[in-house]
Amino acid sequence: MLFSLTSAVLAIYPIGTAALRTSNFENALSSYDYVVIGGGNSGLTVANRLSEDSRTTVLVIEAGEIDDNEDFITIPALAGTTVGTKYDWNRTYAHNEGVAGRAIPIPLGKVVGGSTKLNQMVYDRGSQSDYDRWAELGNQGWSWSSLFDYFKKNERFTPAIDEIRDEYNITYTPEARGFSGYVHSTFAPFFWPTIANFVQAIRELGIPIPFDHATGDAIGGYYFPHALDPVTFRRHSAKEAFYDTAKDRSNFHVIAGHQVTRVLTETSGGTIKVTGVEFAPSRNAARQTVGVNREAILAAGAVHSPQILQVSGIGDPAHLSSIAVNTVVNLPAVGHNFQDHVLVRLPYSTNVRPSYVDLLTNVTFAAEAMEQYLKESRGPLTNPIAEFCAFLPLPMYSNISSEIHATAVTQDSTRFIPWDSPREVIQGYRKQVEILNERLLSNNSGILEVIWVDGLMAVGLQHPYSRGSVKAVSSSVFDSLQIDSAFLRNPLDVSIMVEGMRFLRKVADTSAIRDLGIVELEPGAEVTSTNQLERFLRSRAESLLHPSGSCKMGAREDGGVVDERLRVYGVQGLRVVDASIMPLLPAAHTMATVYAVAEKVT
Ligand SMILES: Cc1cc2nc3c(=O)[nH]c(=O)nc-3n(C[C@H](O)[C@H](O)[C@H](O)COP(=O)(O)OP(=O)(O)OC[C@H]3O[C@@H](n4cnc5c(N)ncnc54)[C@H](O)[C@@H]3O)c2cc1C
Ligand SMILES: *[C@@H]1O[C@H](CO)[C@@H](O)[C@H](O)[C@H]1NC(C)=O
Ligand SMILES: *[C@@H]1O[C@H](CO)[C@@H](O)[C@H](O)[C@H]1NC(C)=O
Ligand SMILES: *[C@@H]1O[C@H](CO)[C@@H](O)[C@H](O)[C@H]1NC(C)=O
Ligand SMILES: *[C@@H]1O[C@H](CO)[C@@H](O)[C@H](O)[C@H]1NC(C)=O
Ligand SMILES: *[C@@H]1O[C@H](CO)[C@@H](O)[C@H](O)[C@H]1NC(C)=O
Repeated sequence: MLFSLTSAVLAIYPIGTAALRTSNFENALSSYDYVVIGGGNSGLTVANRLSEDSRTTVLVIEAGEIDDNEDFITIPALAGTTVGTKYDWNRTYAHNEGVAGRAIPIPLGKVVGGSTKLNQMVYDRGSQSDYDRWAELGNQGWSWSSLFDYFKKNERFTPAIDEIRDEYNITYTPEARGFSGYVHSTFAPFFWPTIANFVQAIRELGIPIPFDHATGDAIGGYYFPHALDPVTFRRHSAKEAFYDTAKDRSNFHVIAGHQVTRVLTETSGGTIKVTGVEFAPSRNAARQTVGVNREAILAAGAVHSPQILQVSGIGDPAHLSSIAVNTVVNLPAVGHNFQDHVLVRLPYSTNVRPSYVDLLTNVTFAAEAMEQYLKESRGPLTNPIAEFCAFLPLPMYSNISSEIHATAVTQDSTRFIPWDSPREVIQGYRKQVEILNERLLSNNSGILEVIWVDGLMAVGLQHPYSRGSVKAVSSSVFDSLQIDSAFLRNPLDVSIMVEGMRFLRKVADTSAIRDLGIVELEPGAEVTSTNQLERFLRSRAESLLHPSGSCKMGAREDGGVVDERLRVYGVQGLRVVDASIMPLLPAAHTMATVYAVAEKVT
C-alpha cells in the first residue's frame, strides 16, 4: 500500500473472478471449547496453536471469504493493490482537523488471513526498548526478553540467496532467528539497485547499521525480511501459515463469510460469563449461535474488536446507552488508547532506469517481468519493496531534540486525547507520557522510520503522543463505526514529523543519493519554513497502517481492557489477542509483533 502499483502489470493480466469459496459448516458442533472471532493475523495463529491438542475443539468465525489466489494477492510487487477490493473493509478514519479536516482511508483485511493478505509483508521486530516499556507500564511478562522466544517460535527464516547477500551485505544472527515456525520470512531474490545508494547514504550520515535487528538492536538502518515463500516467492500470509496447516484437523473448524454480531453472556451470582457467540452472514439474515465451553477469543483487529465488545454490552455505559445497548460490563476504556503510525511521503524523481516506476508505466518492462516471475519465480515482481529502512532516535536526526523534549515535559498532553476519555484512561495515558518523554532523547528508541523506495522517500511517526478512539455508532456490526485516528492532534507529533521531513532532505543531499540525479517534486526545495512544512504534512499525512491499542493491556485502574493474560476485565471466558492489546506501538511494522503476541498466549 505504501507505494502501490496500479500497474501496467495488472493491465496486462486482468484479475480473474472465480467464484468465492465459503467453507461449509455442515459438520459444525453446537459448542466449542474455543470460539475465535476473526480469522486474521492473530486469530488463525491462536486457533492453530490451540487445536494442536486434538482433544480441544476450536472454531474460527471470519467475516471475509477464502481468497482465490489472485495475482494481486500472491505476487509481492502487487502488494497493496488488494486495497479497495472485496477483501478490504474499506474503512476511513473520521474527519480530523489534525490532517486538514480530511477523512483518511484505513484499509483492513476482510478475508481468511485478515490484514496479512493485504499487507506489504514487512516482517520486522521493534527494539528491546519498545517492548520493555510494556512491562514498565506494569504488564508482567511482557518485556523484550519474554517476547523474544515467541518471535522466534513464529518464524521460519531463510537467508537471502547468495547473489543478494553478497551484493547488498545482508547479515543475520542465527540465535535471534526462528527456523521452524509456521511463517516464512526471507529476502526477495531481486532488489531495485538504488537500495544500495540508500544504504550508503545512511552510512554517510553516520547512522549505525546493526548486524541483525532481530536481536532487539533495532536502531539505525537495516535490512529486514518479508513474509515470503522462499521457493515460489509468493506472499506467505496467516492463511498459508496457520490455516492450511490446520484445516485437516477434525477439531479445527472455520466458518468464513459470517460476521460475529455479539458475544453472549450470562450473569449469575454476581459473575458474568461468556456462554456463546452470535453470528450472521448478512445484516438481515437470521442470527445463529454457537456455544462456548471455555473461551471466546476476540481477534477481529484494533478497529473491530472494540466494536464487538461494545455491541455486546462491554464498554462505557453512557456510550452504550446512546446506541441502545444494555451495559453488561462497565468498562469505559474499551475503544480508547487508539494509536496508529502516521506517514508522509516526499516524492522525488531520479534518472535511474529501469526502476520500480517502470512496472507502472512501461508495459514492455512489466510484461517481461511477469513472464520472468511466472517462468522462474525471479525478477522485479518478487520484490515487495522497502527491504532496508531506518529507525532513528530523535537526537540522531534532529538538532532541536532538546527543544522538542522541553515542550514534551512542560505540555499537558491530556489536552490532545479525546475529550470524553474516562478518568482511568487519562491516568494510564499519563504513565505512557512519562515513558515517552523519558525515551525522547535516548539513543535506543526509534522515533522516526525512514523509508526509501527507488526515489520515493517517506517518514513515519513511531511513538505518537496523540490518542484516538473507536466507537460503534449503532448496535449492529453491519454498520460502519467512528474511528478517530487523532493523527497529528498533538503538536509534538507534528514537530517530530517536520524534523523528519527535514532529515529526508539531508538524505537526498548525500553523495550516494545525489548520484541518482534526484529532484524533490513535492513540496519542493523552496518550501523550508516550519509553517510551510507543517501545512504540507497536515494536507498529505496518511496511515502507515498499524492501527492498535484500542483494547489495551494494563491495570484496570490505568484504563486497561485486558489483563496480562489478555483476559477482558469483568467477564469470564473472554480474551482479546489482536493488535488492539498493545499498550504502546513498537517502532516497527506490526505483523510480526501481532504474531508473537498470539504465539505467547497459546
Ligand atoms: C495494506 C496494509 C499494509 C500493511 N503492511 C504491513 C507490513 O508490511 N508489515 C507489517 O508488519 N504490518 C503491516 N500492516 C499491518 C498488519 O498487517 C496488521 O497490524 C496485522 O495484520 C493486524 O492483525 P490482527 O490480527 O490484529 O487483525 P487482522 O489480521 O486484520 O484480522 C482481523 C480479522 O477479523 C475479521 N473480522 C473483523 N470483524 C469481524 C466480525 N464482526 N466477525 C468476524 N470476523 C471479523 C476481519 O475480517 C479480519 O480477517 C499492514 C496492514 C495493511 C492493511
Ligand atoms: C470495497 O469497495 C470496493 C470498491 O467500491 C468494492 O468492490 C468492495 O466490495 C468493497 N469491500 C467490501 C468488503 O465491501
Ligand atoms: C557491501 O560491502 C562492500 C565491501 O565492503 C562495499 O563495497 C559495498 O558498497 C557494500 N554494499 C552495500 C549495499 O552496503
Ligand atoms: C521499457 O522497457 C523495455 C524493456 O525493458 C526497454 O527496452 C525500454 O527502453 C523501456 N522504455 C522506456 C521508455 O523506458
Ligand atoms: C539545525 O540544522 C539546520 C539544517 O538542517 C540548520 O539550518 C539549523 O541552523 C540548525 N539549528 C541548530 C540549532 O543547530
Ligand atoms: C547509546 O549510548 C550508549 C551509552 O553511551 C552506547 O553504549 C551505545 O552504543 C549507544 N547506542 C547507539 C545505537 O548509538
